[in-house]
Amino acid sequence: MSVSLIIGGQWGDEGKAKIIDYLARDADYVVRYQGGANAGHTVVVDGKRFAFHLLPSGLLYPKVTCLLGGGMVIDPIALSKEIDGVVAEGIEVKGRILISEQAHLVLPYHVLVDGASEAKLGARSIGTTRKGIAPAYTDKASRRGVRVGDFLRSRSELEQLLTQKIREGNKALRQLGASPLPVGKTVAELLRVKKRLEPMITDTRLTLWSALDKKKDILLEGAQGSLLDIDHGTFPYVTSSNPTVGGAIVGTGLPAHALGRVIGIFKAYCTRVGNGPFPTEDVRKKGDQIRKLGGEYGTTTGRARRCGWFDAVAARTVVRLNGITDVALTKLDVLDTFDDIKVCTSYRCGKKRLEYFPNDVRALERCKPHYEVMPGWKETTNRADRAELPAKAAAYVGFLEELIGCRIDLVSLGPDRNAMIRFSSRRDRGGSGVPLTGDLPG
Ligand code: GDP
Ligand code: IMO
Ligand code: MG
Repeated sequence: MSVSLIIGGQWGDEGKAKIIDYLARDADYVVRYQGGANAGHTVVVDGKRFAFHLLPSGLLYPKVTCLLGGGMVIDPIALSKEIDGVVAEGIEVKGRILISEQAHLVLPYHVLVDGASEAKLGARSIGTTRKGIAPAYTDKASRRGVRVGDFLRSRSELEQLLTQKIREGNKALRQLGASPLPVGKTVAELLRVKKRLEPMITDTRLTLWSALDKKKDILLEGAQGSLLDIDHGTFPYVTSSNPTVGGAIVGTGLPAHALGRVIGIFKAYCTRVGNGPFPTEDVRKKGDQIRKLGGEYGTTTGRARRCGWFDAVAARTVVRLNGITDVALTKLDVLDTFDDIKVCTSYRCGKKRLEYFPNDVRALERCKPHYEVMPGWKETTNRADRAELPAKAAAYVGFLEELIGCRIDLVSLGPDRNAMIRFSSRRDRGGSGVPLTGDLPG
């Protein structure tokens, strides 16, 4: 199969970009399908760090064409700046970036509305990235949004449309007690970036269908993570799109049967940035240690990420939800120095034992994780001369495989492109999922 989907298995920042970069060496297309500049995707090559927000992480390979799919919300000013940044790094972008005309625009007032709404919510805030994501998807759902394809209208028509939208946005800003935008200046800036982006705008569905016909290799790059999915995540503490498998279909226009591998990316532990339930969070010394060793600070906002232990209840739910066929486990090296490592194998919710993740946050808040403790391996895993994992590290990975019911194929041992090991498990389980046992939530 020529289409592989890469999906975040937790609450984002699982190291998706590192895996995309690893797999993109054989790809023809790398395609983002949802989200926007809330994503922060880091690739490290020979010690040099690249952070992508709107651009797909395959851009570092010259033969890869990068598509920004129709399910995205795109801040054109941020995109233009991001393109400037990669060009300054000497990366050739000509003809290599295509933007779907179906994607919606994140306009400057969306960003300000996001910040002002969060400030108004105070202690009940979601902890968004303040990149205008929810306001832009709100306008899309209420059929008020402006699409990337609108950039192709005549200049006078577009100027009129943008002026009207900025005025509407200013009304919303005033209602939130925030300062309005200068209309003329904002429209002028949008018209400037539109000129630059115009040659990249196209019907990316046709590009992908043609690529399918030619049996090209296509990688679909999920942003955020399955537990942040607006339908399947910890609502309302979620993002406003579908990072899960359905989002990839809707957000690209590819047929479902085209999907071959569905690769779930999981960290060897768990993190979350922003608010909302996180059953295996460790707010004590070990959590701080994970944060320090793993450099767990946001790529987009710089915020400290909340840290905790691998949650097999959440992970096995995510495997089922997405039909994950194989898993890449990242950041195993971060656990190298721990004496022992906790893994949550089930939840206790009152008198019930749960093996699957309840989707109601109130139920989730009542759940207490049940842990099993694995011995640490206390060896440096990220060594050039290493072809296999230390036995105790392999036992840890094997235990996770068993718990989540899916083969772990790749294990990442450091930020750099080459710090990767193929893991061959004793079993070849595929992605059938573990049997539904234990009590059902309710
Ligand atoms: P993404 O949003 O899922 O692409 O992940 P981020 O880029 O936001 O965060 C992952 C961070 O971990 C980045 O700084 C990566 O360079 C780094 N990283 C990725 N894989 C590994 C790994 O296996 N080990 C270590 N130590 N760092 C890693
Ligand atoms: P990548 O692609 C981690 C979180 C925010 C907040 C919630 C809603 O790098 O994995 P939003 O700005 O989307 O309205 O915020 O979602 N969030 C992420 N957390 N990684 C991300 O992206 C995220 N994108 C959004 O912190 O809790
Ligand atoms: Mg990230």
